[in-house]
Amino acid sequence: MKKLLTFALAATTMVGALAQDFPSRPITIVVPFAAGGPTDTVARQLAEAMRPHLGNASIVVENAAGAGGTIGAGRVARAAPDGHTLLVWHIGMASTASLYRRLPFNALQDFEYLGIINDVPMTLVGKPQLPANTYRDFENHIRANAGRLNLAHAGLGSASHICGLMWQHAMGLQQAMTTIPFGGTAPAMTALMGGQVDVMCDQTTNTTSQIEAGRIKAFAVTTAQRLNNHPSLRYYPTLQEMGLRNFNLTIWHGLYAPRGTPPAVAQRLNAAMRAALRDPTFIQRQNALGALVATDNRITPEGHRAFVTGQINQLRTVIEAAGQFAD
Ligand code: MLT
Repeated sequence: MKKLLTFALAATTMVGALAQDFPSRPITIVVPFAAGGPTDTVARQLAEAMRPHLGNASIVVENAAGAGGTIGAGRVARAAPDGHTLLVWHIGMASTASLYRRLPFNALQDFEYLGIINDVPMTLVGKPQLPANTYRDFENHIRANAGRLNLAHAGLGSASHICGLMWQHAMGLQQAMTTIPFGGTAPAMTALMGGQVDVMCDQTTNTTSQIEAGRIKAFAVTTAQRLNNHPSLRYYPTLQEMGLRNFNLTIWHGLYAPRGTPPAVAQRLNAAMRAALRDPTFIQRQNALGALVATDNRITPEGHRAFVTGQINQLRTVIEAAGQFAD
């Protein structure tokens, strides 16, 4: 009995020490899309807000774009489970689970879930030359020219792809638009502003400043309610107001570590993330871009995992309805 107690004590001390010694070197957050885009923006703002809660350790954001985010996610799934390599990813964790027949990871088995960060509305936007200024004009233009227009996105399973899929499906478009994939919506935005692509559905974290600067046109938001709290986005109608019943899409982002990361380290990371979500500067920066910082039980590892499990099932229906799969 005495031996058992000594062992238990030693084990507890070791786990405590493990969390205390963490981090022991710079932390890398992998963003599975190009730099400058919506996921990159969330990861960089979060890294800054988490640092003071991790002994001011340096947190580096690395971009590993491609295949709708599955390349970067696969890299973290294979990384050493010591808490020094993390992933910030969004709805893609759920959509790719049914969209891709083969994936270099399993969404529910290969990651520790560290919590949901935020929810980001999307906007339907167009190149500045598009001959439309209201959603109705835009819809009529799309219906009249669908086969001749293209839709930019960040790869199969990305938020911009899923939104494009759901919107065209809800519109009942007979002829789908040509879709053009990019390594993220940052490069897609450059092409849109330059008029090389026609239309995109993208997160407000990437569109707000371009809309406010008049560099792109905006037509609607994808949320159930108007963004009444936002100084410029509140003027745009919802797709539901425009007749697309029940259309409601926001993009959630989560923080992940490789499966097998010690529980004490995962708890430390979750605690630092939750402290960051309460940081007034982080909240203000997110709100300015139309994002809502998470406050519900999805900020817990259990709540996060339960939520994503539900999203995987929900999105499977959407994807199967659209009948588009990635080999
Ligand atoms: C990005 O960061 O580029 C986006 O999240 C892309 C997307 O999923 O649409």
